[in-house]
Amino acid sequence: MKADRLLIDCHVATMVEGAGAYGAIPDAAVVIADGRIAWIGPRADLPTVQAVETERLDGRWITPGLVDCHTHLVFGGDRSGEFEQRLGGATYEQIARAGGGIVSSVKATRAASEDDLFASAMSRLEGLKATGVTTVEIKSGYGLDRETELKMLRVARRIGREGGVRVRTSYLGLHAIPPEHREDRAAYVDLAVDDMLPAAHAEGLVDAVDAYCEPIAFSIQEVSRLFDKARGLGLPVKLHADQLSNGGGAALAARHRALSADHIEHATEDGVAAMAAAGVVAVLLPGAFLMLRETQAPPIDLLRRHGVRMAVATDCNPGTSPVASMTAALNLACVQLRLTPEEALAGATREAARALALLDRIGTLEVGKAAELAVWNIARPAELAYWLGKPLLHRTYR
Ligand code: NIG
Ligand code: FE
Repeated sequence: MKADRLLIDCHVATMVEGAGAYGAIPDAAVVIADGRIAWIGPRADLPTVQAVETERLDGRWITPGLVDCHTHLVFGGDRSGEFEQRLGGATYEQIARAGGGIVSSVKATRAASEDDLFASAMSRLEGLKATGVTTVEIKSGYGLDRETELKMLRVARRIGREGGVRVRTSYLGLHAIPPEHREDRAAYVDLAVDDMLPAAHAEGLVDAVDAYCEPIAFSIQEVSRLFDKARGLGLPVKLHADQLSNGGGAALAARHRALSADHIEHATEDGVAAMAAAGVVAVLLPGAFLMLRETQAPPIDLLRRHGVRMAVATDCNPGTSPVASMTAALNLACVQLRLTPEEALAGATREAARALALLDRIGTLEVGKAAELAVWNIARPAELAYWLGKPLLHRTYR
């Protein structure tokens, strides 16, 4: 067998389902050819390989490259001032209703150039990459006018070309009502659905359509209009659902066969059952849960009982989750939400890939999948969720 690269002296957590804990292969070998995994298995079974390069990994662990399937990585400014206000007692809702919150990031994002947005997003991306991320989802939603939503999505595409990671974009025009439409929300929804989305799609900037369904944001009716439009354009949908209150978001996501319902702290059993029946992935965002000092965790036991797939993501954003570390998200998912380290790692690999409709290409280490891997300085896979802040990454391959 001819190969570009042969990795030996390593252990592999393939994250393949039904293959034992972590899908682990101790003392493994990985053969890479043409950017794909050409062979993977116990080293003792390795066929004869003529590899351009052979790399000994000194007993390190290999996992699939981590997938951060929910981020707002592109934005102008920051909201550390609101962080101080919240620590002083103000709530996220109070700040949002007083014209701060998402809208303050909108002002900064509108004022920023494409180069500035690219540079600041890249600085956050460095944190993700240093924690093993090779695929990242990036949302719009801090533009809330046609020009700036498209600007954000163009920056996201540029990150996909120049940032050293695979990027999936989501159009999040229904994130907040922009200040100029405060007196006429129907006109904004029309604009976001019938003008901004088709314009972004026509430029090839949209991989999926997202929305924020919450009393302080958009209603089920408004989100349904957007999702119907998305279906007409052939785009998959996903939803910020039931984060701050139970508004039927999980069931709405299920009715529209969404890829994922994200946050879902307040989802009820009906909603969870509907997600299970429709194959909707639950994307857990423990960074936002932590930063908002929430007390109601997502219904993990219900999700397990109904067999809903659970992904874990950073939700990296300036308001509710200034988190730029994927391994921190793993730790928080275990400590705060009570996932097992194996569930958390599956949530940042296989299930996150599923939530982005990329599971046929990435998310597990199997023959034929893309050779996007992370190599770690750890003795056991559980260490990825155990440490908080210790650099663990040796390198990634892509
Ligand atoms: O995922 N929930 C809405 N969107 C973000 C928060 C955005 C912000 O506050 O800037 C989230 O938590
Ligand atoms: Fe979010």
